[in-house]
Amino acid sequence: MVTGASRGIGRSIATRLAADGHRVVLVARTADPLEALKGEIEAAGGSAVVSTCDLADGSAVNELIESVVSDEGRLDILVNNAGITRDGLMLRMSDEDFDVVLNVNLRSIFIACRAAARPMMRGRFGRMINISSVTGLIGNPGQANYAAAKAGIIGMTKTIAKEFASKGVTANVVAPGFIRTEMTEALGAGVLEEAAKRIPLKRLGEGDDIAHAVSFLASEGAGYVTGQVLTVDGGMVC
Ligand code: NAI
Repeated sequence: MVTGASRGIGRSIATRLAADGHRVVLVARTADPLEALKGEIEAAGGSAVVSTCDLADGSAVNELIESVVSDEGRLDILVNNAGITRDGLMLRMSDEDFDVVLNVNLRSIFIACRAAARPMMRGRFGRMINISSVTGLIGNPGQANYAAAKAGIIGMTKTIAKEFASKGVTANVVAPGFIRTEMTEALGAGVLEEAAKRIPLKRLGEGDDIAHAVSFLASEGAGYVTGQVLTVDGGMVC
């Protein structure tokens, strides 16, 4: 299951996991872009189902996981990718903008991982992969809410890793740097060009760069890797 699969990084992750041979549950708020992606995955010989959910609604997140497990019989890989920004300098950031970002970017992941843990333990196999950000490691002016959520993901995932390791369930974080998606395109071409110059690998990342990291962490071969933060940022933070 991949949240935020309708576009950007989530779309790339879902496409990659489908190419790896997984049946993928595509999650976002609206069905149309997910149906289009399902069509693309099937045309390439893969398998996908669509499930709409507003992750800001905790009970809907619980229901989502329950319905996936009851419809599919199992849930092996949970990729919590969906995320939002409500940027603003600390002194001007409203309580609402703090709360909504924490709710969608952190609380929904807590609820999804908690709900997925039982079925994964029953199957003695699970891969929880949570998408954080380099902002969660080093902070970023204008993103106190986002940085708090993304750093929270890291502490929470390390805890999940310790709690479920003996049950065959791993939990890891991927921390992307500057990735070319609609989220970053909103910053404007000038900002992106300047950002690319400061990245040691001299380019912005692509969704596929993140998808390959997720593909590894989701694989059978990554079974001895848990509680880790895999930074995929072209060398920005090293
Ligand atoms: P995006 O804005 O292009 O896509 C976000 C996805 O999340 C969309 O599919 C959207 O429908 C979904 N989503 C948002 N709120 C939702 C909600 N309440 N319920 C259900 N779905 C919801 O973002 P992008 O760039 O693809 O980012 C994906 C993840 O990677 C996010 O968690 C983001 O914070 C993280 N990230 C992105 C970076 C970048 O440079 N683009 C850098 C570091 C982290």
